[in-house]
Amino acid sequence: MKNLLVCGGAGFIGSNFVRYMLKKYPDIHVVVYDKLTYAGNRDNLESVSQDERYKFLQGDIAEHGPVARALEFNRIDTVVNFAAETHVDRSILDPDAFIHTNTMGVYVLLEESRKYGVERFLQVSTDEVYGSIPQGAFREGDPLEPNSPYAASKASGDLMARAYHVTYGMNTVVTRGSNTFGPYQYPEKVLPLFITNALEDQPLPLYGDGKQVRDWLYVDDHCAGIDAVLRHGQPGEAYNVGGENERHNIDVVYMLLELLGKPQSLIRPVEDRPGHDRRYALDNTKTRQLGWKPEVSFEEALKCTVEWYKSNEWWWRKIKSGEYQQYYKAQYGQRLKDIS
Ligand code: NAD
Ligand code: DAU
Repeated sequence: MKNLLVCGGAGFIGSNFVRYMLKKYPDIHVVVYDKLTYAGNRDNLESVSQDERYKFLQGDIAEHGPVARALEFNRIDTVVNFAAETHVDRSILDPDAFIHTNTMGVYVLLEESRKYGVERFLQVSTDEVYGSIPQGAFREGDPLEPNSPYAASKASGDLMARAYHVTYGMNTVVTRGSNTFGPYQYPEKVLPLFITNALEDQPLPLYGDGKQVRDWLYVDDHCAGIDAVLRHGQPGEAYNVGGENERHNIDVVYMLLELLGKPQSLIRPVEDRPGHDRRYALDNTKTRQLGWKPEVSFEEALKCTVEWYKSNEWWWRKIKSGEYQQYYKAQYGQRLKDIS
C-alpha cells in the first residue's frame, strides 16, 4: 500500500480516514478523489492540505475517463471508496443521485480499477444493507434486506464488489459500519443536527416515538476498523464494523442535552421517517479476529464531539447558511408546523 486513492475523502468519515492514514503510515501517498457534492467540503481536509504526501482531485466516481486518469497518473495500488450519497431522508425525497453514485459509481470505480490492475479495493458499506433486526445481531452471511432507497443502493455497491472478486478474481473487501459520529459530520445527520440546533436553541425534531435503536461508533474506531480490514481482510469477504453500543435515540438526545446544559423542552416529536428501521445491531466477531475492536467509550466520544461542535462554529455555520436551508425546509418545514 504505497499510493492510496480515497474516494469521497472530503466527506465526514473519508476526511477522518485520510488524517488517520497519513498519521499512521509515514511512507504513504494519499490522493483524495471527490466530486464535492453538498456533503463534500475541502475545509474538512484543511489540516493536511500542506502535507506533501496528500493531493486533492475533484471528480465523479461514476465517470470512466476521470477515474481511469486518476488511477493511472497517480500509479494507484489501493482504492478505498467512501464516495456515496449518504443521507436516508434525502434518499426518500429523491433517490436519483443515490443510484448514480452508490450503484453506477461503484460499478465504474470497480471496472476502471480492474482494468488498471489495482491491487486492493475496499468498498465502505453500511449496516443498513441488512435491514432492521428486532433482537440479536447481524452476521456477515445474513441475507441483505435493505429498506430505504439509500440502503438498497448501498447494497448494490456492496454486492458488486463481491461479484468483481468472484467473477474477475479482483482483490476486493467490504466493510459494513454502524452509525458513526464525531468531528466534521455534516449537520443533517441526527447527532450534529441536534447538537447545532440545541446550540442555537432551535427545536430537535425527533422522529416517531424516539425508541429506535442505533449502534453508535466513534469515527476513529470506524477508521481503525477499515484499516484493519484493508490490511488483513480476506478477498471477497465482508466485515461488520459495529460500535457494540446500542442506544435508543431518545436516550442519546437526553445525554446530548445534559452535556450542552440545554432543556429537554427543545425536543419536538415529529412525524416519523417512512420505512424507518427500528433497530440495527452488528456481530463484530469476524472483524475482531483481525485484531480490531472499538476502543473509545460512547460517553467520552460524545463529549469530545460536543466540544468539537462548540469550538468549531465557523465550520458548521458556513454549511447551515447555504443549500442546507432549502433542504431543512423540505424535510422539516411541515413536520415542525404540524406540531406547533
Ligand atoms: P458524507 O456524506 O459525509 O461524504 C460523502 C462524500 O462523498 C462527500 O465528500 C461527497 O462529495 C462525496 N461524493 C458523493 N458522490 C460522489 C461521486 N459521485 N463521486 C465522488 N465523490 C462523491 O458521508 P460519510 O457519512 O462520511 O460516509 C462515508 C461512507 O461511509 C459512505 O459510503 C457511507 O455509506 C458509509 N457509512 C457511513 C456511516 C455513517 O454513519 N456516516 C456508517 C456506515 C457506513
Ligand atoms: O447505520 C449506518 C448509517 O447511519 C449510514 O449508512 C448512513 O449513511 C448514516 O446516515 C446513518 O443512517 P441513519 O438513518 O441511522 O442516521 P440518521 O442520523 O439520519 O438518523 C439516526 C436516527 O435518528 C434514526 O433512527 C433517525 C433518527 N432521526 C434522524 C434525524 C435526521 C431523528 O429522530 N430525527 C432527525 O431529524
